[in-house]
Amino acid sequence: MVDKYAVIGNPIGHSKSPIIHKAFAEQTGEDISYEAILAPLDGFEATIQSLIAQGYKGANVTVPFKFEALNLVYPSNRALDEVAVNTLRFLGGEIRGDSTDGTGLVRDIQQNLGITIAGKRVLLLGAGGAADGVLQPLLNELPASLVITNRTVDKAQTMVKKILSKNHNAFSLTACAFGNLSDAQFDIVINATSTGLTDTALPIPSSVFANGCIAYDMMYGRETPFMKQAREAGAQVADGLGMLVEQAAEAFYIWRGVRPRTQPVIQQLRSA
Ligand code: ATR
Repeated sequence: MVDKYAVIGNPIGHSKSPIIHKAFAEQTGEDISYEAILAPLDGFEATIQSLIAQGYKGANVTVPFKFEALNLVYPSNRALDEVAVNTLRFLGGEIRGDSTDGTGLVRDIQQNLGITIAGKRVLLLGAGGAADGVLQPLLNELPASLVITNRTVDKAQTMVKKILSKNHNAFSLTACAFGNLSDAQFDIVINATSTGLTDTALPIPSSVFANGCIAYDMMYGRETPFMKQAREAGAQVADGLGMLVEQAAEAFYIWRGVRPRTQPVIQQLRSA
């Protein structure tokens, strides 16, 4: 019998996950189905329970349910530093959860774009859910330094304190306001704010992009004001499509134990 999976969100119509997972299934010969399911804003848990009752094996979780999903995960199966989960496995009566967004970003930067994070000066723009989900995986790669900057600087400071309380200041991690970036230069600049959605420019000076810098926007689909600014400053620019496919590949691996090739799927989506 085919193993059933789905992605749950609200809204969900835009999701590319069904196309990606169907391509992975075809490529690897895994017998799965994968569909997009709209959950009511107050009905996430009920939707998950209904999927379990119907024999689904797992689900991806997207906006706005990633934090709620963490609460569903059986506590002893959850890594302590996880802030949200996007991949659920239904094992008997138990729900297990993982976060694959950070792995997806790191793999896209290192394997697809060929840029090593170790020893680099990294600037992370934003301190919302998207930034929080990728911070620890970025630090695990041992950048020379990582600065988090956010419109609401308190939120960036809270993220830094939370990490330093666990990691005993083993690396250079700091928070600063947008206004304090005028003397700083970075090798990797990652936009994890939602400003691309509203076509808003960020108040950062173009001097943050060091020579040979990569500017990575976690959004995809079109050139954001951040990407335009970085391109005009001479940086190499990437959007988040590769991250999307890589986080899906990691979820597929968690579910099926098989690692799909991502390049053909990234190409397929780019040419669509
Ligand atoms: P997500 O899940 O996409 O991270 P979020 O948790 O709402 O969504 O976080 C959105 C991020 O984009 C935050 O860092 C937010 O800054 P604040 O914490 O100051 O709100 C940032 N953001 C949104 N609109 C912005 C704008 N116009 N200028 C600068 N930053 C903005």
